[in-house]
Amino acid sequence: MGHARPRPRAPDALGPGMAPASAKQPRSWRDRWLSQRDRLLASPRFQRWAAAFPLTRPIAQRQANALFDLCAGFVYSQILLACVELGLFERLAAGPLTLAELARALDLGEPAADRLLLAAAALRLVEPRSGGRYGLGPQGAVVAGSPGIAAMIRHHRLLYDDLRDPVGLLRGTAPPTRLGGYWPYAGSATPAGLPPEQVAEYSALMAASQPLIADDILEAYPLGRHRRLMDVGGGEGAFLAAAGARWPKLELVLFDLPAVAERAALRFAQAGLASRASTVGGSFLEDPLPPCADVISLVRIIHDHDDEGALALLRAVRRALPPDGCLLLAEPMAGTPGALPIGDAYFGFYLLAMGRGRARRPAELAALLTAAGFQPPRSLPTRRPFLTSLLRACPDQAT
Ligand SMILES: C[S@@+](CC[C@H](N)C(=O)[O-])C[C@H]1O[C@@H](n2cnc3c(N)ncnc32)[C@H](O)[C@@H]1O
Repeated sequence: MGHARPRPRAPDALGPGMAPASAKQPRSWRDRWLSQRDRLLASPRFQRWAAAFPLTRPIAQRQANALFDLCAGFVYSQILLACVELGLFERLAAGPLTLAELARALDLGEPAADRLLLAAAALRLVEPRSGGRYGLGPQGAVVAGSPGIAAMIRHHRLLYDDLRDPVGLLRGTAPPTRLGGYWPYAGSATPAGLPPEQVAEYSALMAASQPLIADDILEAYPLGRHRRLMDVGGGEGAFLAAAGARWPKLELVLFDLPAVAERAALRFAQAGLASRASTVGGSFLEDPLPPCADVISLVRIIHDHDDEGALALLRAVRRALPPDGCLLLAEPMAGTPGALPIGDAYFGFYLLAMGRGRARRPAELAALLTAAGFQPPRSLPTRRPFLTSLLRACPDQAT
């Protein structure tokens, strides 16, 4: 099961002679301007005026809607979860249905089905069609077309349970989390010993969601000039299988926990890749990585680890690479323009509930990489940075 994190330092534990920053630092013009803005926004008189004045009315409305969305976001998530668990999108993928037909198919009373469909329509998950029927909406169509997204949504039930007490999670006083149980390696001192039944569910989820990500990485960094790719923490091998399909001469090596590596070996055999894909089982925090590849990938791995583990893993990768090799580090990153709510808010709290790790800014990853013996990395633009950003780092010959 999950585990409590160490309690964060209280502000009065900054160290001898250190005052909190706000007490001593001079305030910049921006700080002063923002304080003035906050005072205005907090004033009911200003709010009334801004909502009535024609030039500020649209801004006031947008602000009010955004605040309400923050408050209601959890409800929207539950509506989406209900649609997925009831199989609503699969039903509608075959064509529009009437309320009565849907109520029967979903095993709901008509008033309940009506309530769900109205809510789902408001969230663009379904859409009213002619003859009083409902069809897929733009968001529902995307979920219907991707089993990976539906599986992701389903497993969020655990996260929603864990987030019942966000303050307890932040303080480290919440009970063991359900996500901690779902990702057992995050709380295990001996992850290499995890049995097959404890890795099956998360490995299948990762494999189902990997197609969303593999294409973006492989578009951003073509592997044609490389001989052998080792995917460390490669799960069931979905990323390697995608790379192998694009570059038929590329040899593939997967490193993951023994029980996961076994699942990957099976996938490679089923995909006819066994002749050029091999697997190595072990723990990348304890065991050396085989020095066999000229390119190594870490896909959605580093954010699972606190700094100490991340640094140990990056050092192990550095040791395994030849001087002209390179590392591809792909994961959602904090501070990503256009994806702040995902990197900073969503992953921040997801990993808190998981019990370990955090989304890092590219500059923080660069600092870890250079400390591990890499040159400062290059950022390679990806198509959907909210799914993954990508850094490429080469060994620093001077270290
Ligand atoms: C979040 S999943 C990412 C899987 C895959 N890279 C992907 O993006 O689909 C993390 C992976 O790291 C593996 N892992 C965690 N701790 C490990 C360890 N100490 N040694 C080897 N693999 C580990 C897990 O088994 C899992 O497959």
